[in-house]
Amino acid sequence: MSFLDPSGASALRWALFLKDGTIASQNSAIRLVTRPAAGSYVVDVGGTARGKAILDTCGGLGYTAAACLKGGATRVLSYEKNEDVIWLRSVNPWSPQTGGALALTHGDVTVEIAKMRDASVDAILHDPPRFGIAGELYSQAFYDQLARVLGRKGLLFHYTGSPNKLTTGRDVPREVAQRLRRAGFVAELHGDGVLATKAGRRKHR
Ligand SMILES: C[S@@+](CC[C@H](N)C(=O)[O-])C[C@H]1O[C@@H](n2cnc3c(N)ncnc32)[C@H](O)[C@@H]1O
Repeated sequence: MSFLDPSGASALRWALFLKDGTIASQNSAIRLVTRPAAGSYVVDVGGTARGKAILDTCGGLGYTAAACLKGGATRVLSYEKNEDVIWLRSVNPWSPQTGGALALTHGDVTVEIAKMRDASVDAILHDPPRFGIAGELYSQAFYDQLARVLGRKGLLFHYTGSPNKLTTGRDVPREVAQRLRRAGFVAELHGDGVLATKAGRRKHR
């Protein structure tokens, strides 16, 4: 059995901690930094996560959560639906230990999020499986919930990649941005996904 080494080049996009080329706001919990070699962006939560409560919607092996913890987040709320992935985390040396600042809930985040209080997190990292196999994580109903739990001036990074572009012609990142706007976010395409902020008043639906 082998594991993804989070320091490896092909590993997670959020495990890179480049300090140059910072382009996002100083006040945000998440910074986007350029990755010169690939010409794309990765999310760096290492510098400005300090003191923040972060919702990590799709926990996976925990590399996103580990980056948040490394950055000094005071609370990381991770959700993971797949029992096998939870088991893998327990034997993967690169997965962070749960407990302390990291709470891992085994469950479907589209259900569990309803239990979260309004405006209870400072930032959200949404790294779902691709649209074709987890459409509910790209739905208007779920985005409305993301808008509800994110505090004022909070920041959301929604990883999308560019699935389906070459095959079906669908532009998932653009569709995501439109739906996020309907949920009350100010959203723009950014690097490998969509960056959205809770600027101003939330739109109630
Ligand atoms: C792209 S991976 C996330 C990787 C993660 N960012 C990391 O650092 O390891 C997506 C994960 O979401 C999980 N998942 C899929 N649907 C989910 C749901 N409704 N609620 C919670 N987790 C879900 C999958 O089992 C998978 O582990």
